[in-house]
Amino acid sequence: MKLANLELKNPLMNASGVCSFPPLLKRWEEAGVGAVVTKSIGIEPSPGNRGPVLIEPYPGAVLNSMGFPNPGYEYFLEEMKEYSFDVPVITSIYGRDEYEFGFLVKKLEPVSDAFELNVSCPHAKKGGYQIGFEPKILRKSLKNARESTENPVSVKLPYYSADERKLKEVIEIVEETEMDWITEINTLRAMDYSVEIERPIFSNKFGGQSGPTIHFCALAQVYKTRELTDLPIVASGGIVSAYNVKRFFGVGANVAQLGSGLLYYGEYRDNKHTGIEDFVKAILEGLKC
Ligand code: DHB
Repeated sequence: MKLANLELKNPLMNASGVCSFPPLLKRWEEAGVGAVVTKSIGIEPSPGNRGPVLIEPYPGAVLNSMGFPNPGYEYFLEEMKEYSFDVPVITSIYGRDEYEFGFLVKKLEPVSDAFELNVSCPHAKKGGYQIGFEPKILRKSLKNARESTENPVSVKLPYYSADERKLKEVIEIVEETEMDWITEINTLRAMDYSVEIERPIFSNKFGGQSGPTIHFCALAQVYKTRELTDLPIVASGGIVSAYNVKRFFGVGANVAQLGSGLLYYGEYRDNKHTGIEDFVKAILEGLKC
């Protein structure tokens, strides 16, 4: 299948942030996905937040507050030159303003077949989350990125919940700035709280919720997005089986991303977690592709 100018052997990718540093991207590739998506890369190296950074307070609810751990674009560029991929590499980037998005796209073009602009981290300290909710900066960021590369550029949107006007406004911006596709949804802003120690669990207080419990929120947004645009939609949110992927395709998505649903595949609950390869193979088999 085609996604913009990319040739994909099947409609599956990993979701950014889940096993998405280069050595693990090789595992997704070997497992058989049609394209791989990197962890979000920024300008400066960052160790991420102080732990805990990933918890499952309730079955099906995965909460993370990673804080964009990444080596920064310079190191990432050198590191990626040591790898070669047979499937398209989509580089996820995050910027704090419109200039950073343009800059990063230009710098990372040599190791990227396409880009996914992360404007939707629900717990970033500055930038990220807010950009997906701020039409003016969003428009400038997408425009700068678009003008800085010939490669396909996509945008990863936050969950707009019941705010259909915001979704409509954002989709108009996405079309106007000639994005090649929309990826949705990013994690939902969330928090856990310890009654015993009387404070939020995450050092950053907030995190993002993913996993099976967000699947139905994602379906609703993909459905609404499909009513509003003909752009390709790459859907993500709580996929644990081929049935979830079929649901996404049923409401108008073209491609699906596998993320923290990975944790729920197989016999994870008995500590017999079977890994990326079995997960991807089972979904491809269920889709008959
Ligand atoms: C991070 C970024 C995200 O967009 C997200 O949904 C979750 C975590 C991060 O690295 O902090």
